Parts: sequence; C-alpha cells; structure tokens
Amino acid sequence: MTTIDYATPLKFAYWVPNVSGGLVVSTIEQRTSWDYDYNATLARIAEDSGFEYALTQTRYAASYGADKQHEATSFSLALLLATQRLKVIAAVHPGMWHPGVLAKFIITADQLSHGRTAVNIVSGWLKDEFTGFGLPWLEHDERYVRTEEFIRVLRGLWTEQGYSQSGKYYDITDFTLNPPPVAVPGRPHPEIFFGGNSTAAQRAAGRTADWYFSNGRDLEGFKENIAGVTRAAAEAGRHPRFGLNGFVIARDSEREARETLREIVAKAHRPAVEGFASAVKEAGQATQDGKGMWEDSTFEDLVQYNDGFRTQLIGTPEQIAERIVAYKAIGVNLFLTCYLHFQEEIVAFGRDVLPIVRELEADLARQHGTELDTDLLPAVDLDRAAAAVTTTPAGTAPATPAGAAPATPTSILTEVSAR
Ligand SMILES: Cc1cc2nc3c(=O)[nH]c(=O)nc-3n(C[C@H](O)[C@H](O)[C@H](O)COP(=O)(O)O)c2cc1C
Repeated sequence: MTTIDYATPLKFAYWVPNVSGGLVVSTIEQRTSWDYDYNATLARIAEDSGFEYALTQTRYAASYGADKQHEATSFSLALLLATQRLKVIAAVHPGMWHPGVLAKFIITADQLSHGRTAVNIVSGWLKDEFTGFGLPWLEHDERYVRTEEFIRVLRGLWTEQGYSQSGKYYDITDFTLNPPPVAVPGRPHPEIFFGGNSTAAQRAAGRTADWYFSNGRDLEGFKENIAGVTRAAAEAGRHPRFGLNGFVIARDSEREARETLREIVAKAHRPAVEGFASAVKEAGQATQDGKGMWEDSTFEDLVQYNDGFRTQLIGTPEQIAERIVAYKAIGVNLFLTCYLHFQEEIVAFGRDVLPIVRELEADLARQHGTELDTDLLPAVDLDRAAAAVTTTPAGTAPATPAGAAPATPTSILTEVSAR
C-alpha cells in the first residue's frame, strides 16, 4: 500500500543539460547550451523559480546525441558552488566507482556546499562505456546485485564509524570517513536517488534507495512502478519517495503546445532514434522478465530519451498543473523536468505553472482532511530569475548560444550497444 503524502508540497527538479544537443534528439531549435556559464546561470534561475533539485547526467561516451559531455560529479560540485539553496544530484555508475572513493568525494562536496549534495545511482545501459574502459559488463539483473551492495556501502560509510561490510563485490573493513557529511536536520546523510525501470531495478530501489526515479510514464504505468518499489520497500521496512521524468511544453494554448511537440518529432533525427530504439529494445529482452526500460516505447517517445513525453506535461499551464497534481494523488513526490529552452522555460514554469500547482495541492490536501504545509515551500524570486536569463527568444538571436553544440545530424551519433 502506498501512503500518499498530501501535506508535503511537490518538489521540482530539472535535468542539467551537461551533455551537448539538448534533451530531445531533434534538429528543432533549442536555446539550451551544455556549457558551464549557461548552466551556472540556469542553476541560479532554477533555485529562484522554485526548483529544489538539479540532476546531472553521467555519460562518458557519445551515443544517441550527446557527442560532448561534462563529467557529472565535478560539474555538480561546480553548480553547488554557484548556488545558495539548490541541491544538486550527481548521477554515478557503481561499475565506474569504488563506493568508498565516491563516499569521500561526496562528503567533501557536502562540506563545501553546506549539506546540499545528493547522488543518483544508475546501473548503466551503455555497454560500450564499460567495455571501452576495460571494465566488466555484468548481465542485467546482476548489475542490480552490485548496485544494492554499493548503496549499502555508501550509507554505511556516511552514517557509521568503523564500518565493515563483506559481500560479493565489496569488502570494507572497520573504516571511518572523517569528517562525516554535514548534519542537516531531517537528512540522515546525502540523499540517495536511484534511476531505473525494470523489475530488478524496482526491487533494488525499494530495498535500498531514498528516492526512486522513473522515466516518463502515464498514470497507470507509474502506478505499477510505485507498487513494485513499494512491495520491495515494505519487506525491508523502508519508505522511499517517488520522482517522475516529464518533458514540459507549456504554451498559451494546447494547440500551440501540441504543435511544438509535433515539430520536435517531425524534426527528430530518425536514424539516431531508430538505432537507439532497436538497441535498447533488443536489450530489454536481457532482463529476466523481458521488462526493461524503453521496452514499450514508441518512436515518438524515444525522441526524448527518457520517455519524457509519456508523462504528458504538454498544454496550457492549467492543464499541466492539473496533470501534475493528478500524479501527486497516486504517490508522486517530485517531478524531474526538461525543456526545449531551459532558462526561459524554467522561469515561465515557476511563474505560470507552479502557483496553480500549489492551489490544486492545497485543495487536494483539504479533500483528504489535511493542509498543505506551506512552511516547506522553497523561497522564490521570479524577478531576479527572469532578469538572469541569457538567451533570447526566437528570431532575435542565433539558433544556438555560444558554446552550444548545434543539434545537427552530424552531431548525433547512431552507434549504440546496450546491456
Ligand atoms: C531518471 C533516470 C536517470 C538516469 N540517468 C542515467 C545517467 O545519467 N546515465 C546512465 O548511464 N544511465 C542513466 N539512467 C539509466 C539507468 O541507469 C538504467 O540503465 C536504465 O534505467 C535501464 O535499466 P532498466 O532496464 O533496469 O530500467 C537513468 C534512468 C532514469 C530513470
């Protein structure tokens, strides 16, 4: 049984565009850059617009777009130092890091940022990144065996002195990390997010993670994920929270928003999307029950590579706010969002969508006999956010800002091999 937290306001995060090409594999104009200056400004804009988290992706090799990438942990630290309140979640692969080294790195970043670090544990899908580095590429479900051990080591080293753990992948003996992470009220250690969709991923997340992150899904689909994670969590006596990816297209009219989606898909880089689709679908069969991430994704879904259109945050601000609160009513606690033009669309989201979300959340709470705890709402400064935007509307600026990799077909590589 999922317990719905009606009183706590929804939290909002955005995908850090730390890889080139934006968050859709399309040649449509994207006023989004992967460079640091754009991203530092974006992080400040987001925290002033009501966003509490940013998620930095981890990618070491070009595939399906993203032919240039900034490393996730170092980039996250830079964003933490550029902001005051934003929590930055760095995605990390267990197979690429020793958990003790990562635990120490994150503690240092936590000290430097006064307790604002978090990690997203991702078990990996891009085989070439591992085999190219000469690292073992484990079979699908076995990757989650290692991931669970990895998370236990992280939590142990962050919370205990003289920590020991012996397992199949890691042996930690009587180890103390000093200093420990910053003591933040209500946070026992840096938060542990977990990204994955398969049954093995849901079980591992339920048993070990603080937050379960999913690719975009419709309401019925995400209910299934929540149920799967909750079952595993209940057996372990845990209560993870739930985050869902969604690509936001908020426009004055629904017609305009749908037209933008149509244009994104019409301008998709077809060979790249089809190459990715066949690789990841074939790979989905590698899971024990054949239910991998992307297993039932359509061509249109995969133009946003984390299935972000499926959440359907597409329409007017009112329609999007209603949709968001419908997800809250089934158990979603956080939205992980992405956009065509990150800076200006995040300001618009904070200005046009969030106030309606808060009203609807307050109604929902009252319908369930409680009140929305407005003391927990993040501070916003929309004027400062709007003034900081460095990109300009279409027609008044070059299609791609300085430093951005244009989303041209040549920048989109099709060679991928998953699982
Ligand atoms: C929200 C979210 C974020 C993710 N971020 C990354 C990432 O930054 N790098 C990466 O290699 N994989 C990332 N993944 C992919 C997962 O690690 C995993 O490989 C993927 O979900 C496929 O595994 P599955 O079939 O077990 O779900 C992410 C997944 C989700 C849901």
